[in-house]
Amino acid sequence: MDSIHVQGGRSLSGEISVQGSKNAVLPIMAAAVLVKGVTVLKNCPDITDVRCMIKLLQSIGCLVEYTGDSLMIDARQITSHTLPHEYVKKMRSSIILMGALLGRTGKVALNYPGGCIIGKRPIDLHLEAFAEMGIRIEQTDEKLEAAAHRIRGNEICLRMASVGATENVILAAVLAEGTTILKNAAREPEIAALCDFLIRCGAGLYRSAKGDVIVIEGVRALHSCEYRIPFDRIVAGTYLFGTMAAGGNICLRDICADQLGQVLAVIRIMGGNVVCTRDAVCLQAPSRPLPVPYVRTAVYPGFPTDLQSPLMAALCRADGHSLLEETIFENRLRIVPELRKMGAQIMVNGRQAKIEGTGCLCGACVKAEELRGGAALVMAGLAAQGETVIYGREFINRGYEDIRRDIVSLGGSLFYEETEGPSQKGDEAETE
Ligand code: EPZ
Repeated sequence: MDSIHVQGGRSLSGEISVQGSKNAVLPIMAAAVLVKGVTVLKNCPDITDVRCMIKLLQSIGCLVEYTGDSLMIDARQITSHTLPHEYVKKMRSSIILMGALLGRTGKVALNYPGGCIIGKRPIDLHLEAFAEMGIRIEQTDEKLEAAAHRIRGNEICLRMASVGATENVILAAVLAEGTTILKNAAREPEIAALCDFLIRCGAGLYRSAKGDVIVIEGVRALHSCEYRIPFDRIVAGTYLFGTMAAGGNICLRDICADQLGQVLAVIRIMGGNVVCTRDAVCLQAPSRPLPVPYVRTAVYPGFPTDLQSPLMAALCRADGHSLLEETIFENRLRIVPELRKMGAQIMVNGRQAKIEGTGCLCGACVKAEELRGGAALVMAGLAAQGETVIYGREFINRGYEDIRRDIVSLGGSLFYEETEGPSQKGDEAETE
């Protein structure tokens, strides 16, 4: 059980470049399966979810080389349409390989990825959309098989703007017969990046100005291309809230402030002084943040659910009480008991957390159970007096390339340790 030891009580200062986006690179790696050629992805983050996706691509016949931040995927030969459960269970977002394998081979088989600690994570929206595209689906208790002689384009309106379902429809539609009109599509920047990548490979794709309607004209084939993965807006937001928690003055480079709209608005309410340039965001945090009366998570461009826990960590030190509501996942307030070990005053009622800010948090031994909660505990440790030990570093490694490298570069003090920690369910970091 790996751990992170954080020496808190000191403000942050410095500047870093933000890594490539986990939630952009994973669907684009899946999309590379549609290309009967070679895809080269630059600025690819070295995180365990990327390593897991590489194993999945290799298991279906892709040749993959990962050198520095450059990932080469040769998908000229696809030799299998079955996804090994060993990797699917580690990373449930492997479900986005369904659309890609169906588009490329007309078939896919996998065991259900199941839910995770933040929610049940059903895939009904994905399967409903596939059925509307002429894809036959067979389900047993744990196995899922889908096939289509020829996927046909159709008009599809998602019951909710699911990120994964949007990605799967796009991937299934790119090489389909005819045109697919997808309505109520997810509008996250990662969807825009996936569309940009596919257009660069020769896909016939159009996104409305608002991003909620996507038209895909099926083409016969895609061609090789090179693409640079955009920055990770959730990693950037994590470090901004860490600075709001601990205090200080940082700059994040190679980022696009427009994708952080709601996050920067909340930071300004908390008393943060934010200056944005074309490709950077600089933050001067107050010595103690102001509370936020009410924030609810929502689909993009609302406040991102993935930053709800880092925001909560920062609000634990605010001068007054704040109310957070989680509307996307049914079980995403899990770091509350761990923050209470550090002296936080938080009341949970259903999907709402009422945070009574206290002047100081105290270092403690806490455990991460999932990716963003784990990162939030590191941010809380930066603000706490004394040392905080966070067990379950493997969860954080799924999405943060090297949180120690980044935080130390921003003036924080932390180190990694391989230690036996409190017993955790399962060895592997089950992933969202
Ligand atoms: C993506 O997950 C992200 N993961 C998540 O990031 C992110 O939290 C989420 O989008 C929301 O922004 C990746 O991109 C790899 P959804 P996804 O389908 O696609 C329900 C992280 O920390 N739903 O938009 O699974 C679902 O249960 C991870 O980086 C259905 O009911 O999200 C959830 O309540 C965590 N039926 C809500 O929709 C479906 O068929 C949002 O899910 C699909 C989803």
